Amino acid sequence: MPLAPYMEWAKTRRSAKWDLAISNVLGLSIDELPGAAETLALSGRNDSGYEPLMKAIARQYGVRPSQVTTAQGASGANFLAYAALLTHGDDIVVERPGYDPLMGAARLLGANVVQFDRCVEDGFALDPERVRAAMTPRTKLIVITSPHNPTSVVADPDALKAIGDLASAAGARVLVDEVYLDATARDTPTSLTLGDHFIVTSSLTKSYGLAGLRCGWILSSEAIAAQLRRARDVVDGTGSIVAERLGVLAFAHLDQLHARARTLLDINMPLVHEFLRQRPELACPKPRGGTVIFPMLLNVEDTSRLAERLLTERDTAIVPGHFFQSPRHFRLGFSGPTDQLRGGLENVAAALDAREW
Ligand SMILES: Cc1ncc(COP(=O)(O)O)c(C=O)c1O
Repeated sequence: MPLAPYMEWAKTRRSAKWDLAISNVLGLSIDELPGAAETLALSGRNDSGYEPLMKAIARQYGVRPSQVTTAQGASGANFLAYAALLTHGDDIVVERPGYDPLMGAARLLGANVVQFDRCVEDGFALDPERVRAAMTPRTKLIVITSPHNPTSVVADPDALKAIGDLASAAGARVLVDEVYLDATARDTPTSLTLGDHFIVTSSLTKSYGLAGLRCGWILSSEAIAAQLRRARDVVDGTGSIVAERLGVLAFAHLDQLHARARTLLDINMPLVHEFLRQRPELACPKPRGGTVIFPMLLNVEDTSRLAERLLTERDTAIVPGHFFQSPRHFRLGFSGPTDQLRGGLENVAAALDAREW
């Protein structure tokens, strides 16, 4: 079994004219980042992270630079955190539905993955009781995405705090992947504020349209940051100075980039609301933010055939739910160009009308 079937599919699938399998805010062009060309440089000191970038991240999220570890995207951030905190035979508790690299990376390191459910009937809310039931004496890490991939639901702070208390009592830690947070609820404080047993990962990929920069980071206590840096010594050494310098520039324009993302998402969101209103065969909590939805197709066991037929017959991509361990659902992204979303939704509606599953 591949380590991360979704990631493998996402990288090898056919491209589609109407691409709703995405989750990033529309990619930025170099002209949309003022000063980008002048900022490029091929050398500079960044052994423990490029200092101006660590300062910019720290300022943005209200922490000290010594609590920031830079990484290759949120993917690299998650992997570094796992590499620093997990050893062979540890247990890691991960949400279901969940983003599969969060499980695959743990398996690669020899950890056992135990999942707990976030249920459509509860609006995919986090239930600390389910987390408690999934914990074992070997649990070292509890991993949550907030906003949740694939549903975009933002974790309730009280539930997160309760999960933090469970972790703390068990000598475990909570990793919260907040890569979608700024596109969804930018004013929500980072979960690091909940205590030193929390670790937060994120990047400029999802909320700012800067996937190509691979500008990611981990926010943690200083003690954990020191462990993360030693793990980095054997994972990728240092970051790319080229990308880290551009990352500083992006932080200098973050409000502008945020406004760009908001404008796009505020135009696209009503199209998704209207689509869901017209589709009684889909069960989906009303989306309040984020870049993706995860509807359940009622009375259908597996959406794989629907996704396959949409791709081959209607040139339209959605993500079948089995990649998130929930085959009755599918993930539909709405953070791309509005015309693409409109055309894609029409095609999904036509496929549902024709019962192409
Ligand atoms: C929850 C989550 N974390 C991390 C990533 C990867 O982010 P990055 O491009 O910054 O590595 C994704 C991408 O889909 C994601 O959904």
